[in-house]
Amino acid sequence: MKSILKKIVPKFAKRFYRSKQTQFSIIQDYVYDYRKFNRESASFKLKNKEMMQAYIIKEYHAIEKGLAMLEPRPGFGAERVSALADVVGTYITCYGIDAVTSTTAFTLREYLNFDAAYKKVPDYLTIKLEALLSRCDESSQSKTGGTKIIPKTEITDMLDFDYAGFFKSRHSVRDFSTEPVSTQIILDAIDTARFTPSVCNRQAWKVFVIEHSNQELKERLLKVQNGNRGFGEHISSLIIITGKLSSFFAYERNQVFIDGGMFSMSIVLALHAAGLGVCCLNTSYATKQYEAFKNSMEMDSDCVPIMFLAVGNLKDDFKVAISERKPLSEIVEVR
Ligand SMILES: Cc1cc2nc3c(=O)[nH]c(=O)nc-3n(C[C@H](O)[C@H](O)[C@H](O)COP(=O)(O)O)c2cc1C
Repeated sequence: MKSILKKIVPKFAKRFYRSKQTQFSIIQDYVYDYRKFNRESASFKLKNKEMMQAYIIKEYHAIEKGLAMLEPRPGFGAERVSALADVVGTYITCYGIDAVTSTTAFTLREYLNFDAAYKKVPDYLTIKLEALLSRCDESSQSKTGGTKIIPKTEITDMLDFDYAGFFKSRHSVRDFSTEPVSTQIILDAIDTARFTPSVCNRQAWKVFVIEHSNQELKERLLKVQNGNRGFGEHISSLIIITGKLSSFFAYERNQVFIDGGMFSMSIVLALHAAGLGVCCLNTSYATKQYEAFKNSMEMDSDCVPIMFLAVGNLKDDFKVAISERKPLSEIVEVR
């Protein structure tokens, strides 16, 4: 029957059907993403600790940025600062003081100190902030919020190495040695990658490291991923980078992928600097695959996969795809 149909249905009808099918699956995937963003993001209400933290970080960071301006405007952002203080107060009541509240405290203290010379912060807000700060721990020795001065030499002293050479020596490695990768090296690389910039410093990422020894989970995850055929079985460790939708608000629907992508690149470079071979693996899942991925790994419901990183030790000699780059003139327009 199928072969008869194949013969009698004209080519243009098949093409039309296929394109409609593709259109339908694009819509289906968009609807899936829309519903997930609606459900898991902080767009509507700060429903849990993570959402509150995302809001607090976003808002204290706005103050940090204001204070870091060449000439901060005295009394800036009073309404926002007041709203932040309310949320931090509720947060402390619900969850107690922690690193986030102490960073907020440092920032608010600097905000008040800066105002001392101008007296532009309304009295009600000064009283509110002092009351809030009395509930926070301001005793920590190292300042984690507000601003700091950096001498130029701190940067220039770091620049005596061949960055372009280092960058260009990285290739996607799909041919690894059989020696297992030390998890500590991976953790060190992720530790460095924590310093990747992110929107309002929200750091909305969560990484899962699947160790060499966890063969069963590694295989399960790679089975759903559609770009590791021919080398998946030689991957030593697998890194699953996810972004957390609970840190994002309305209009930020793409931010999780931007921040997650930048974070992933930092991990790739840190692993490269550690002498390991790495290959990014896509998580371009259609809805069905996405569900299969979700079912193969326990993780918070607000996590979205950004990419996997296949990691292995380098052989003495190994083959890579050349992956020629487009010329600069083709990708840059100077105006
Ligand atoms: C997000 C992302 C997903 C990728 N997915 C795959 C994949 O599934 N399988 C694979 O073999 N390579 C994958 N790659 C590697 C690319 O093919 C590779 O980075 C590109 O060809 C450039 O080559 P280079 O990394 O050696 O410079 C991916 C790269 C990125 C950035």
